[in-house]
Amino acid sequence: MNIEILTSHWTEHELLDSGNRRKLERFGNHVLIRSEPKAWWKPSLPEDEWKKADAVYEDSGRWIVGNRNPTREWLMRYGKISFQPRLTDMSKHVGIFPEQSPHWDWMIKKITSSGRKDIKLLNLFGYTGAATLAAASCGAGVTHVDASKPSVSWARRNQELSKMETAPVRWIIDDAVKFVRREIRRNSRYDAIVLDPPSFGRGPDGEIWKAEESIAEFMDLCRQTLTDNPLFIILTMYNLEASSIMLGNIVSDTMKQSGGTASFGELALQEKTSGRMLPMSIYSRWEK
Ligand SMILES: C[S@@+](CC[C@H](N)C(=O)[O-])C[C@H]1O[C@@H](n2cnc3c(N)ncnc32)[C@H](O)[C@@H]1O
Repeated sequence: MNIEILTSHWTEHELLDSGNRRKLERFGNHVLIRSEPKAWWKPSLPEDEWKKADAVYEDSGRWIVGNRNPTREWLMRYGKISFQPRLTDMSKHVGIFPEQSPHWDWMIKKITSSGRKDIKLLNLFGYTGAATLAAASCGAGVTHVDASKPSVSWARRNQELSKMETAPVRWIIDDAVKFVRREIRRNSRYDAIVLDPPSFGRGPDGEIWKAEESIAEFMDLCRQTLTDNPLFIILTMYNLEASSIMLGNIVSDTMKQSGGTASFGELALQEKTSGRMLPMSIYSRWEK
């Protein structure tokens, strides 16, 4: 099995440049500067280009917003879905991970080409709902689980902005592990699972999540919620230490009784001018 590198082709986002542990990106009509611990190299664009940015995130925990484009909320489109990125102090995250778009494209292709009308998908650690709305946009019934109430409200706002209020989505604020254990007891089954656990996280009641300690057992719990005819699993992680080979091993071991194929690799962003790749996260997929 070879390591695959997937890059985003979502035209609403561009990695314009990176270097000196920073990145310059276009999110729709906003150009942003944020820290990027993996950008060990030198920027390829002159400093004047970086000075044209609309907002800069200072690691002291706040956004410095220029006059050209002072709005702190705006819209981005992915097919018929609308996302609302926001500049919120105390976080450099803007509510969307564009490097995940190859997963959204792939999910939509798998769901539509399955020819099945009743696909049930579980999106764990779902954040602002990008994967949830992508799956729901092609008819899947989605259960979205995240521990953070603000994240789930933001996801519901994206659903409204996408005029997908009637889409079959269940929004759940809960600890992912507790939720999956309950689904097993309830004999609830899913055809597909998407998860993007943080390296370290807390559930609503302070439940500790540590990926290296829990991911293998958690994947086995997730497998127990799959139907007898599962379609796919997507596991993504943002973890500086781990390698995608490790995720490939976990997913292959988890699904070894179910046939199908596992793949693994990296999600990366490709710079518009230099073509240089910025590694963002690692993933493993299983498909029927
Ligand atoms: C990296 S984000 C996921 C990004 C998402 N996959 C996307 O592409 O938009 C991780 C999410 O996990 C949630 N989280 C952290 N610990 C959790 C837990 N124990 N149970 C459920 N959600 C948790 C956080 O609230 C956050 O929204």
